[in-house]
Amino acid sequence: MNNSIYNRLLAKEAKLAVIGLGYVGLPIALEFARKIKVVGFDINPERVDLMKNNIDPSNELDASAFDGCDITFSADINDLKDVQFFVVAVPTPIDDANLPNLKPLLGASGTVGKVLKKGDYVVFESTVYPGCTEEDCIPVLEAESGLKFKDDFKVGYSPERINPGDKEHTLQNVVKVVSGCCDESLDQIAKTYELVVGAGVHRATTIKVAEAAKIIENTQRDLNIALMNELSIIFNKLNINTFDVLEAAGTKWNFLKFSPGLVGGHCIGVDPYYLTHKAQQAGYHSKVITSGRYVNDSMGGYIAKQAVKKIIAQGKHIQDAKVLVMGATFKEDVSDIRNSKVIDVVNELVSFSVHVDLVDPHASSEEMVHEYGIGLIEKPTADYDAIVVAVNHREYKSMKESDFKALLKDGTGVFIDVKGIFKGQISDLEYWSL
Ligand SMILES: NC(=O)c1ccc[n+]([C@@H]2O[C@H](COP(=O)([O-])OP(=O)(O)OC[C@H]3O[C@@H](n4cnc5c(N)ncnc54)[C@H](O)[C@@H]3O)[C@@H](O)[C@H]2O)c1
Repeated sequence: MNNSIYNRLLAKEAKLAVIGLGYVGLPIALEFARKIKVVGFDINPERVDLMKNNIDPSNELDASAFDGCDITFSADINDLKDVQFFVVAVPTPIDDANLPNLKPLLGASGTVGKVLKKGDYVVFESTVYPGCTEEDCIPVLEAESGLKFKDDFKVGYSPERINPGDKEHTLQNVVKVVSGCCDESLDQIAKTYELVVGAGVHRATTIKVAEAAKIIENTQRDLNIALMNELSIIFNKLNINTFDVLEAAGTKWNFLKFSPGLVGGHCIGVDPYYLTHKAQQAGYHSKVITSGRYVNDSMGGYIAKQAVKKIIAQGKHIQDAKVLVMGATFKEDVSDIRNSKVIDVVNELVSFSVHVDLVDPHASSEEMVHEYGIGLIEKPTADYDAIVVAVNHREYKSMKESDFKALLKDGTGVFIDVKGIFKGQISDLEYWSL
């Protein structure tokens, strides 16, 4: 085993490449590059140029994260020719019909296939349904390379668990699931990941098990949040504060601590659709998972309707109403606006002819226009009928009731606190939260 792939990587006689340098790929590439020789490959040359200058295009890492790394960034496939271990971390989005869009994954498999050699390893990290690696990706690797899976090259799957904006649960301190196509490959892949994951690895029995483990982590979370959202709708009808109920129930040792909210982003709101798609192919129509998705996807419209009702109840003409929506990103303290459900709140308000201004200290107005056709305003005016705090950005959490009053017409109006962060702190405004 002296010339095993792991030993050759350690001795810097072999190179590892990460394909797709986004939220997942760049951190893992940099971690590996502290120990072994790495090529960071991405199809987007502008992103590659930024990384060459120690800039993380996803705004998660600062320049110091690039220090001491043995890494070459490239958008040129020729730089992959002398690589022996490939890690694929490209996006796995859904299309307009909520079906898996495997284009980036199959594109990346094609790239790797073109440079694949006998003895090479390929590990997929992108979130997929069980069976995707073997049924969809490996055939592309074989077709492009002319090589035979298992005899000529090995494949594994190791899902990613990082959480954007979370400085506590990092790549190094969270156990990573790894899998391989045989005992030998599992061992080599596990050892290679152990180089960078201080918390160690969990060796899953098969690739499909590892794929399924990842998809259910997020499906479970999606469903738990959906239950909280449904409870919130019920409690709203019963005039009970949901967060008061959760606080009380949370004193029991086995009550799970989830809270209602908008479920956006490209993981929790997306991954369950990969599983339901695969289930459908297998002849099973998921009911529980799709119900959760339905509830969570409806929350933006629901929140907007509550705001509209409150504005009307204040005796105002809804067509003349002006609402400030605070927060546009898919979650707090990140700049990522992809699949943000705040846009559902905005669109529903606009459908009632409400004038909406949107602000966010983290998001880019240009990206918002590109993605949703609505930009951010630079500075809020002081004549709103209602404020919707849609995202818990740290900048908002420190605001006081007086700050919000200063933004409202005549210092009064409706205050929608989606996540209930100002519970008990608002006394003069018409307050509502999930
Ligand atoms: N973001 C997260 O927190 C997170 C957490 C766990 C798992 N995941 C999963 O990890 C995968 C990657 O997600 P991400 O958030 O890092 O995506 P991302 O959109 O941040 O980055 C993807 C990168 O891949 C590049 N790319 C796209 N197609 C490519 C191709 N064919 N060849 C080379 N590069 C290509 C893009 O230019 C981009 O730089 C997805 O499957 C996602 O579901 C993400």
